[in-house]
Amino acid sequence: MPCILVTGGAGFIGANFVLDWLGRPDAAWDALDAAVGSPVTDHVINIDKLTYAGNRLSLDALDDDPRHRFVRADIGDRAAMDHLFERHQPRAVVHFAAESHVDRSIHGPAAFIDTNIGGTFTLLEATRAYWQALPIPDRAAFRFLHISTDEVYGSLGPTDAPFAETTAYAPNSPYSASKAASDHLVRAWHHTYGLPVLTTNCSNNYGPYQFPEKLIPLMIARALAGEPLPVYGDGQNVRDWLYVGDHCAAIRAVLARGRVGETYNVGGWNEKTNIDVVHTLCDSLDALRPRATGSYRQQIQYVKDRPGHDRRYAIDARKIERELGWRPAETFETGLRKTIAWYLDHPLWVRDVMSGAYRHWMGLQYAA
Ligand code: NAD
Ligand code: TYD
Repeated sequence: MPCILVTGGAGFIGANFVLDWLGRPDAAWDALDAAVGSPVTDHVINIDKLTYAGNRLSLDALDDDPRHRFVRADIGDRAAMDHLFERHQPRAVVHFAAESHVDRSIHGPAAFIDTNIGGTFTLLEATRAYWQALPIPDRAAFRFLHISTDEVYGSLGPTDAPFAETTAYAPNSPYSASKAASDHLVRAWHHTYGLPVLTTNCSNNYGPYQFPEKLIPLMIARALAGEPLPVYGDGQNVRDWLYVGDHCAAIRAVLARGRVGETYNVGGWNEKTNIDVVHTLCDSLDALRPRATGSYRQQIQYVKDRPGHDRRYAIDARKIERELGWRPAETFETGLRKTIAWYLDHPLWVRDVMSGAYRHWMGLQYAA
């Protein structure tokens, strides 16, 4: 059975991607069918180490689905990767697995170097060995799609043009530096060995199944728990926000129709200051789940800034629109409404995820 190998598919974006993929969203599958020339029924081999960020509960809906196979493994384990390639013969790799949280990278960068750089290197080498042994037509059709971040481009001033694919790399945090290094490895494996790679650099994602250490789910969880809402610095840092479902559609488009060796920036055309995001979120919660008295805005607290905090990210997503016809479907308002509704409708998922690792992190990062 044709299959794709997904790494990090128990994390936030990976789980959304796997669920969407197996849900066969129409337009994307039509495009895939057309690209391959016959109906495609890819199964998913989902490889995840299950760090604190990986969550099997997010994949509950696939428990009895024969099209999905979950394998607990580390992308840095070469023997395990070789075995999985040999056994499943994937036609593509979609590489999400990473350490992904900037604040954690400041407290402990080692895991970021190990997984994002070392793990990507090992995965590339296992992929290369498998790919080089494929028959010629399969080699040409094979794809390695690397999921990266806009943070590799560094920080923008208020009037700077948004990041384009040609913007020079200038990563500032251990997280973004490790992702930049992984992007360079992927690029080099194409230029040196001919591996058919694609890279996407996207902005801040939000939506269902996101671990509540990142801004939006953290604010939702803490607001509902009656806890302070910690806004770093002056709250004027700007991020571009991309609904995760839109991101998954972009990845499918790049996998199906992207030009080999190219990078594609993926953004939501939604630049917001952090304080605006938190205000909008508080106002939505006031309407959907009002407090006994007053507004959730009363819980906002300005706290010490993150060291090296990038001031502004913004994405120029015209290339992917021009070449592949992708544009985000959600506005920030519609995406946020869906996201808040999902967290309110999934109290068991939220309760489970706010146990051990979450509490430990809250103590480390926010206790003071
Ligand atoms: P996440 O932290 O929610 O999930 C990462 C997943 O990778 C987890 O399931 C974890 O268990 C797994 N993993 C970690 N180390 C591993 C290893 N050594 N071997 C196998 N699995 C391992 O991250 P996310 O938000 O879903 O991000 C996915 C990808 O998208 C990452 O590469 C990240 O850099 C990138 N990205 C994320 C965002 C965002 O806003 N979340 C924005 C831009 C880019
Ligand atoms: P985050 O979700 O960590 O993503 P990134 O740092 O990768 O952009 O943070 C988004 C923005 O929100 C960022 O400018 C930092 C800010 N932030 C807060 O103000 N308070 C918080 O508790 C967190 C986690 C983030």
